[in-house]
Amino acid sequence: MSALIPNAAAEGSIAISGTAAPKAPAALLLEVDQLAVEFRTRSGTVRALEDVSLALAEGETVGLVGESGSGKSVLSFAAMGIQDPAARITAGSLRFAGQDLLAHKGAAMKALRGREMAMIFQNPRVALNPIRAVGRQIEDVLARHTDLHAAARRRRAIECLAEVRIPDPERRYAAYPFELSGGMCQRVMIAIALACKPRLLIADEPTTGLDVTTQAAIMRLISELSAERRMATLLITHDLGLAREYCDRIAVMHAGHIVEVGPTETLFAAPRHPYTERLIAATPVGAASLDDLAAIEGNLPDLRRTDLPSCRFAERCARRGRECDAPLGLVAVGAQHSVACHRPLGTESAEAQHVAFA
Ligand SMILES: Nc1ncnc2c1ncn2[C@@H]1O[C@H](COP(=O)(O)OP(=O)(O)OP(=O)(O)O)[C@@H](O)[C@H]1O
Ligand code: SF4
Ligand SMILES: [Mg+2]
Repeated sequence: MSALIPNAAAEGSIAISGTAAPKAPAALLLEVDQLAVEFRTRSGTVRALEDVSLALAEGETVGLVGESGSGKSVLSFAAMGIQDPAARITAGSLRFAGQDLLAHKGAAMKALRGREMAMIFQNPRVALNPIRAVGRQIEDVLARHTDLHAAARRRRAIECLAEVRIPDPERRYAAYPFELSGGMCQRVMIAIALACKPRLLIADEPTTGLDVTTQAAIMRLISELSAERRMATLLITHDLGLAREYCDRIAVMHAGHIVEVGPTETLFAAPRHPYTERLIAATPVGAASLDDLAAIEGNLPDLRRTDLPSCRFAERCARRGRECDAPLGLVAVGAQHSVACHRPLGTESAEAQHVAFA
């Protein structure tokens, strides 16, 4: 199956949403190539990811969007080397700054995590240690990955809390997670992730549930780190408005496949995959969140099925034709723009001409 890695850097520039200014050529930081992840469960094997390819360049922010259950978190856990015991990577490769992540075991992976690669988890309460003060938890990361002495670590921990707009950070330094609201815990998680100024940030719904001002402050902080330190960010979100505002490119996932990836404005202005079109159309103006959207017709297929079609969207797709049963992979349809569809949108005029001359 074709595995085209949509790669802005390879083409020498990255389109920034809303501007025409190209960035300097950037090195690839994260390369996911033809990745497959399965879960062995009592009721069958869940084929959670199949033939997933995606690359992130230094300084780039890529949005990962798709309905609940499409595989966004499984992909981010795999990239971070955090595996559920039931999970198996059955195909493909993962590279970070040219290093083979699948060859990194235990201690080597731990050394990368936190310092070079950091993740903001979808569920902050579960990710925080309930019996350790939050300031100490930031210091733990600094102690593991920097040579700052104790007083400097404490200062930096308080600075990190202030950066994510925790009010009265000196006092909150000593608070335990149960003493803080959910939104405050989320900000602590973000502070921990950003404490060592990582080269790659995977942010799984980082601002969900936060008020608009805090959300803007956190996204500004992430944007600043991207610009100043060339941090690459994979932003997983249900909020298409947020993705549109902050991402250079967007990858759309459906049922464990990346079905489309392209520059943000191109994707919003002229989506090529029927699922991308439905996602955008179903998002009400003003709400801009997949949580609020009018349901997309049909459900995600059961990923335990042994007869999954090559296009996992086929059973929901009004454009389905005979050719849709053939094997499928991402194919370039424009600059940095690829789609996995046998009958992508925007090909009607060509089809009509073909019929007219037949
Ligand atoms: N431990 C597990 N065992 C079995 N199946 C799993 C496990 N973890 C995830 N899955 C399955 O993998 C698929 C992808 O799940 P994932 O959590 O990545 O979705 P998601 O896109 O992050 O959804 P959400 O937007 O709700 O966070 C789903 O079908 C899910 O049921
Ligand atoms: S390959 Fe066919 S069934 Fe699948 S999304 Fe494209 S048109 Fe629809
Ligand atoms: Mg998730």
